[in-house]
Amino acid sequence: MWRGDIEWCVKRRGTESREWRVHRVGIADSTQDMAREFALQGDRGPLAIVAETQRRGRGRRGRRWLSPRGGLYASLLTPPRELLFAHAGLAVADALGEIGVEPTLSWPNDVFVRDRKIAGILIEVVARTAIVGIGINVRASPLPTATSIAAEGGSRLDAPELLRSLLASFDASTATDPLPRYRARCSVLGREVRVERISSAEETALVGRAIDIDGAGRLLVARDDEVVAVSSGDCALLTARSPGEVKGGG
Ligand code: BTN
Repeated sequence: MWRGDIEWCVKRRGTESREWRVHRVGIADSTQDMAREFALQGDRGPLAIVAETQRRGRGRRGRRWLSPRGGLYASLLTPPRELLFAHAGLAVADALGEIGVEPTLSWPNDVFVRDRKIAGILIEVVARTAIVGIGINVRASPLPTATSIAAEGGSRLDAPELLRSLLASFDASTATDPLPRYRARCSVLGREVRVERISSAEETALVGRAIDIDGAGRLLVARDDEVVAVSSGDCALLTARSPGEVKGGG
C-alpha cells in the first residue's frame, strides 16, 4: 500500500527503534522539495516522504534523478548530525544486504554493485533540519550503465518493505560510530581517484590515492608528498571509470 496521508511506521528492531511518520504520494515533482516545505513549516522529523514516481527528481550537483515507477524515492527529515552521509550510506547498504545484495559505498554518497550505481543519496539542510534523499533502483535501472535490485538477484522487490528496512537500518546506524563500518564498505580507499572538490569559492579537481576517511568524514587523498583532506566533492575511481560516467537513476 503506497498511498495515503501520514501513517505511522513502527519499527521492527529493538533498542534503537523510534517511530517514523511516513507520508506517501503517488507522483511528486521531487520528494526533496516536498520535504523542504515540511521543514520550512517547522517539521523536524523523523518523517519519511515517499513517492512512487518523481517528475523532477534531483541528484547531486544539479543532476537529474530519473524516477520511473518501480524504484524507491524517499526523503528523510531528521535532525542534522555528524557523519550523516555515512549513516545514510550504511542504511542503504544494510537494507540491500538484508535482501541479498551487497553493495560498496563510494565516498561520499554513491552506492554501487559490481561498479554500477544502484542507489544515490542527496543530503541537504533546510531550516536546521537535514533532508536525506535516497533513490534506489528496485525493479529496473533507468540507465544502461546502472543496475537495480532485480538485476542483482535481490530476494524481494517490495519498495514499502525496503523503506521499513531502510529506516530501521538508519536508526541502528545512528546509535553507533559509523566510520569503521563505512570504511570497510568504502570502495575508493587504497585506490587512485579523481575528486571534483566542491568549495564555496571554486570547484577544483584533485588526483591521488584515497588513503582514509578521517573522524570528520573527510576523504584523505595522498598526492606527491602531501595529504589533502577533502570535505565535499564527487569521487571517481581512475581505473574503473571517469568522473560523471556512472550515474544511477539520473
Ligand atoms: C545522486 O546520486 O546524485 C543522488 C540522487 C538522490 C535521488 C533521491 S530520490 C528521492 C529524493 N528526491 C529527489 O529529488 N532526489 C532524492
